[in-house]
Parts: sequence; C-alpha cells; structure tokens
Amino acid sequence: MNVSQSDTFHGSFTSVLKIASWVIVATLTLAGIMSPTPLRAASDEATGKQIYDVHCLGCHGDEKTTGTIGPSLIGIVGRKAATGESGVHSRALMEADITWNEVLLRKFLAAPSRQVPGTIMPVGVSDPQQLDDLLAYLRTLR
Ligand code: HEC
Repeated sequence: MNVSQSDTFHGSFTSVLKIASWVIVATLTLAGIMSPTPLRAASDEATGKQIYDVHCLGCHGDEKTTGTIGPSLIGIVGRKAATGESGVHSRALMEADITWNEVLLRKFLAAPSRQVPGTIMPVGVSDPQQLDDLLAYLRTLR
C-alpha cells in the first residue's frame, strides 16, 4: 500500500468535510437572518381579533354578534364617524366631522377623549403593538 497516497486522500477528505460543514453553517445562518417570519409580525390580525373579543366585542359586536351600546364597527375604516346604524352616538363625535382612516382611528383608540373631547367611547389602548394588531383586525370587518 502506498502510504503517501492514502495520506493525501485522508487530507483532502477532511478538507471536503470542513468546507461542507462551513457551507451548512453559513446556509443556516443566512436562513436565520433572511427568514420571512420575524419573531413578531408587524401587525397580526389574529392577535387583533383576540384583543377585540376581550375589550371591544361586548359593546360593539362583530359580523356574528350584535353590539350593545357601541356602534357597529363593520366597515369602520373609511366610514364617517358616528354614522353607524346601531349603538349610541355622542353629539361630540357626531359634530367632530371625522371620516375614519387608519391614522385617525389609531389616534382615537390610543386616547378617545383626548382626540374627541366629550366622546362616550370609554376604552383607550396604549400599547402600540396592540393598536397595530387591532387595526389589522378592524380592516377585516366588512
Ligand atoms: C363599554 C362599551 C365600549 C367598549 C368596551 C368599547 N367601546 Fe368603542 N365605543 C363605545 C361607544 C358608546 C361609542 C360611541 C362614542 C361616541 O359617539 O362618542 C364608541 C365608539 C367607537 C368608535 C367610533 C365609532 C363610529 O361609528 O364613529 C370606534 C372606532 C370604537 N369605539 C372602537 C372601539 C374598540 C376598537 C374597542 C376595543 C379596544 C372599543 N371601541 C371598546 C363603547 C365602547
């Protein structure tokens, strides 16, 4: 057996292994960096629905349930404020002359009475992530 040949073979086999493992590590690293699913989505409709069901549904209802004192929020994005057919509207909101877009809704939901003094909408949502999620859900109420 030719010893020097076997040594050469062994040496190149090890380098192939080294390169292969480097390629695997690099691929995994890149996959981690470029993963299309970040740890937390920018806004998440499903989480928004959970927040809505706990904090808003009882008053406002949704496609399946009727609200109580809160106006229906079906079609709220793009609708003129206080023109919903159900629920109670304050004079303050009726006279505010607002047509809801996402920016205005976000401001209103963060602090209702600061945006529309005299509104009877009692719930504010201060967490920006929760606001993003809620808006993602409100957009789907059509
Ligand atoms: C205790 C009952 C109640 C709860 C809970 C509540 N709201 Fe309201 N909401 C109202 C009432 C009453 C109004 C009407 C306000 C007015 O006319 O001044 C209103 C108004 C609104 C409006 C404006 C509607 C329109 O037609 O112009 C939006 C948007 C809204 N609420 C979103 C929400 C969201 C989102 C939540 C949950 C985070 C929520 N509300 C929780 C009672 C409630």
